[in-house]
Amino acid sequence: MKYYLTTPIYYVNATPHIGHAYTTAVADTIKRFRRMLGDDVHLTTGTDEHGTNVERSARRAEWEPQQFADRVSSAFRSEWDELGFEYDSFRRTTDPNHAKAVQEIFKRCLENGAIYKDSYTGKYHISDEAFVTDEEAAQADPDKIITITEENYFFRLSAYQDKLLDLYRRQPDFIRPETRRNEVLSFVESGLKDLSISRSTLKWGIPLPNDPEHVFYVWFDALTTYMSAIGYGEEGEKREPWEKLWPADLHLVGKEILRFHAVYWPAFLMAAHLPLPKQIYAHGWLIFQGGKMSKSKGNIVRAKPIHKVIGIEGLRYYLLRDIVFGQDGNFSSEALVKRYNADLANGLGNLASRTLSMIHRYFGGEVPEPAGDDDLAARASETIDATREHFKNLDFSRGLETVWALIGTADKYIVEHKPWVLIKGEDEASKEKLRTVLYNAAEVLRIVTALVYPVMPKSAEKIWNQLGLEGSLTDTRLDDLQWGQLAAGSKIGESEAVFPRLDVEESVKKMQQLEDEALKEQAAIMGKQLEAAEKDESLASTEADAEPAPKIAIDDFVKVEMRVGQVKTAEKVKKADKLLHLTVDIGEPEPRSIVAGIAEAYDPDTLVGRKVAIVANLKPRKLRGLVSDGMIIAAAGDDGKPNLVSFVEDAPIGARLS
Ligand code: ME8
Ligand code: MG
Repeated sequence: MKYYLTTPIYYVNATPHIGHAYTTAVADTIKRFRRMLGDDVHLTTGTDEHGTNVERSARRAEWEPQQFADRVSSAFRSEWDELGFEYDSFRRTTDPNHAKAVQEIFKRCLENGAIYKDSYTGKYHISDEAFVTDEEAAQADPDKIITITEENYFFRLSAYQDKLLDLYRRQPDFIRPETRRNEVLSFVESGLKDLSISRSTLKWGIPLPNDPEHVFYVWFDALTTYMSAIGYGEEGEKREPWEKLWPADLHLVGKEILRFHAVYWPAFLMAAHLPLPKQIYAHGWLIFQGGKMSKSKGNIVRAKPIHKVIGIEGLRYYLLRDIVFGQDGNFSSEALVKRYNADLANGLGNLASRTLSMIHRYFGGEVPEPAGDDDLAARASETIDATREHFKNLDFSRGLETVWALIGTADKYIVEHKPWVLIKGEDEASKEKLRTVLYNAAEVLRIVTALVYPVMPKSAEKIWNQLGLEGSLTDTRLDDLQWGQLAAGSKIGESEAVFPRLDVEESVKKMQQLEDEALKEQAAIMGKQLEAAEKDESLASTEADAEPAPKIAIDDFVKVEMRVGQVKTAEKVKKADKLLHLTVDIGEPEPRSIVAGIAEAYDPDTLVGRKVAIVANLKPRKLRGLVSDGMIIAAAGDDGKPNLVSFVEDAPIGARLS
């Protein structure tokens, strides 16, 4: 059976971070798993390159949008290659063949009466590149909301409300997980507005075939990538993959873009009379330093630095084992290395090395003949079935838990029977038991290795080779995997540690250092904007504004949330003469990380314990690789050096200034 799955088509306004790698690693895992079920699998990923945001980022870097998009897109592609993701199509929305597909689906929608032209005035969110409701606009960052009036082409989304509700009812697993499905259901039940799908104010996009003054709005353009990547929009032979692979079996997305996939996309396809994808799965967010990792907040972790320290396979295992797929999960480098040590260096790695080395030492590297399976056969078969079901359900953490329970059983079995004691026994019973124990341990190892292949393909292949097995795991079918297939008398290969143990503290530190380098690499790819942002910020807190500020209403003043904080730690920032990195307790569960341009005026040690005033609701920024989530208030002294605001009477931590 064919199986077609996709990752989101990532924006090129930032280089890849671990959130993008997460979805892509999951997609790669599913691809490998489906192949083990015998499916003919195709995985599409790519980059989303049109729109205001990209145009703006490019201008800031003083590049043409295309040139900018080329650089960032190739950063995605080369990172996916370096991390070993096995994608089949990498599609860019600036590919000319993609434009043909967008125009084709648009023409079909137009012919079927689903598109009309009208003038539109609305609140527009510039980062999300979408018109938003008044309610949504009120909740958003006011800097990101603008009002636009223009002639637009509209898609009659309102006409699809019942058809969509019908779809969700007929196909209960069209949207997963269940909680997300309920959110979409109530969104659609509350009524749908028609959707603007073109812009005449924007140049950086695909022109409408009937009205080239307009370009497509990003979602119409971006979603169609799932079809253009496999030949939709083409003719003849080039279109064949689409004919074979469409509809998609699975669109994997993060929860923030579910609505576009579960509401807009099926409606576009219905209007074009094209088959609908079978399932949209919206996973949760990786949370880091208290929030969703995001380009604008700057609280970002990248996959490459981790890959360089513990390898992509350790990272894949951690992401799939520690984070329940579908839910949000905290990312922590320390938890990552601990998990690696406990489950990979100790668990699987240890089972492999002790089993294989005993077969080498006691049997000259030849798999011994067992006399019975000591109940391990039943346990192993149950594990194969259960793991397969969990993986089918995309419940990776439970699948891996199940496999590790079998590893635990095998470990206990070895410890109980003590092969290192049995080897000393002269009697036939001891010899027979030794053969049995080592055969069974090796057979568990073989089965476990096949089961973890989708998650850790390279490590699994290594252990497979060490077991002396023929062929590759890419050709192994889970339905054929059974107890007893390890042939007695066969030769095992060389054994070598697959998961060397790591020092937690040292590894975390190394990752941090490499992360700083990666940030510089990103700045080099994306142009000057990062450097410029750092400069602005480091001066902002010390430079007194010479111009008197305009009068504001009290409403404007109360938007600024100032609080009393107490400095917990203060350190110089490497290679930045003016900056100190502070953590400040403002009565929240976690102290705030704040980077302040006060190093020339204050010795860090004298600040610890001091009460300060901070602006608590500024957008977080990243400076020299550190998150700055707040601003410390100071006046400029005569010497131009900052003079921190302090309190003569004691002020309680967290109190608001008004
Ligand atoms: O939304 N945790 O692109 P994008 C988990 N171009 N996953 C994360 C994540 C995090 N903190 N951050 C990002 C777009 N992701 C559009 C998509 S599709 C036709 C167009 C992953 O670059 C997650 O899969 O903002 C999320 O949905 C995707 O990256 C967003 O990537
Ligand atoms: Mg995004």
